[in-house]
Amino acid sequence: MKIFLTTAIDYVNSLPHIGTAYEKIGADVIARFRRLCGDEVLFQMGNDEHSANVQKAAEAAGLPPKKYCDEMRPKFEAIWKKLHISYDRFIQTSDQNKHYPTVYEFFDRVNKAGDIYQKDYEGWYCESCEAFYTEKDLENGLCKNHQKKPAWIKEKNYFFKLKKYEKALLNHIEANPGFILPAKRKNEVASFIKQGLEDFSISRSTFTWGIPVPLDKTHVFYVWFDALINYLSWLGLKSLDDLKDNEYWKNVMHIVGKDITRFHCIIWPAMLMSAGLPLPKTVFGHGFVYLRGEKMSKSLGNVVTPLDILEKYPDFGADALRYYLMRGSSFGDDGDFTWDGFIERYNADLANGIGNLASRILGMVWRYQGGSVSPRPFEESQEDLIFKANEVWEYLKIDLSIDEKDPTDIRPHRALEAIWRFISAIDQYIDRRAPWQLAKDKKVDDLSQILTLLVECVRRLSIFCGIFVPDASKKIWRAYGFDKWKNFSDIRAPDQFDSPLSKMPHKLTELKLNLFPRIQVI
Ligand code: MSP
Repeated sequence: MKIFLTTAIDYVNSLPHIGTAYEKIGADVIARFRRLCGDEVLFQMGNDEHSANVQKAAEAAGLPPKKYCDEMRPKFEAIWKKLHISYDRFIQTSDQNKHYPTVYEFFDRVNKAGDIYQKDYEGWYCESCEAFYTEKDLENGLCKNHQKKPAWIKEKNYFFKLKKYEKALLNHIEANPGFILPAKRKNEVASFIKQGLEDFSISRSTFTWGIPVPLDKTHVFYVWFDALINYLSWLGLKSLDDLKDNEYWKNVMHIVGKDITRFHCIIWPAMLMSAGLPLPKTVFGHGFVYLRGEKMSKSLGNVVTPLDILEKYPDFGADALRYYLMRGSSFGDDGDFTWDGFIERYNADLANGIGNLASRILGMVWRYQGGSVSPRPFEESQEDLIFKANEVWEYLKIDLSIDEKDPTDIRPHRALEAIWRFISAIDQYIDRRAPWQLAKDKKVDDLSQILTLLVECVRRLSIFCGIFVPDASKKIWRAYGFDKWKNFSDIRAPDQFDSPLSKMPHKLTELKLNLFPRIQVI
């Protein structure tokens, strides 16, 4: 099956923090899991480059906005690559070859549908949200998201007839339970629409860094009208008419934060309806990462970035951050970051958990059998651990995918719990069977049977863990010599059942493995 996964595209006026990273890591986990299942995944991310804020940041940097954006792109990509985000495509909305023509074609369809008109407008505008607010949207006169006083703006704008689509949107949401996930976001969006929608302005004339509106070159497109269309610009369509036959679009999941779910579940589908185009299958609104319960913001000076972690722990920081963020909560719920919590989790689950187990088993195979294991059949009935490994796969399928009949949340934390239960079961098995005693007693056959089973468990673990901590998993794969059988990136679901260790002798590659050294707490 073809699957199109998209994240929100990031504003480029500041570099990613662990909140924006949470989204990309969550999306990457879904992408890696789907690839493992054999799906053809197109995973797209990128930067949202047009806005007054970006124009200001470029001015402050003394650069023309396009140059500023082009210089920000590699900085973003370097961070995403270090975090092992396996995106296939990185887009920029200032791309004049791919994006501008799609925005023009889209606008033309909406305009021909009679959904664009001009009027004078005044209202509160929060530049950080790039959104107009009414008095009732504000909290003590401040924008709820940024705790900043919005500017009072008065201008002639082009408007999109959003109100016209109220009923159609509600009908679509009701008829498609998997359209907005998790379910609580669906309820929020539906009750927001029921309170009544207002038409929204799609152009600005107060700044110039944007795509000029064809009807009136003194205006540029409002950043959301421009940004949302990024999801179509890189699909390689000859014309937007081809969207209905596009296999990726049939299975598109937009992954976005809860603050922008409304843009994706109201404005975007209404724009698509107006343009006569098919709607996305799913919009997933994930929760926010807070810092000790507080919103991260530059003004509060409490922003933690992936670079803070990667610079402190260059060898394992990426996997550690991925694990920590995914282990905390359901993807739809909010999570929290604290340095203490991060180190505690790391030591308990990565250093003492998978790290210790992988090096322990590797050491025993070298010590007792010179790094070799003999072929053994693996059947559930024979070995409880094989039954448990198969069970983990069942949990991954439940927790990392959307059930068509009962779509709810994506629960990476539950998937990880299942994997870590398996790790504890292996640890307990080793303690129970005490291979060191068998070696002492010269019970060669029993020992051989146990060691092959343990190596098989590590093989399965590195497949499961590859979704979450890909760097460490790849290192285990290589150290255990499994790459002689298959490249880590080529593993597909059946490979975890069909073990090479059941058929032929196998030799480990490396003598030692130190994936996750303990962090000393002073
Ligand atoms: N440019 C828009 C999105 C346009 S999509 C067509 C935007 N950019 S952003 O840089 O502000 O945010 C990018 C993504 O990161 C959004 O989905 C946003 O919800 C998410 N997050 C920003 N802060 C976050 C946390 N603290 N926690 C989790 N996600 C957060 O919005």
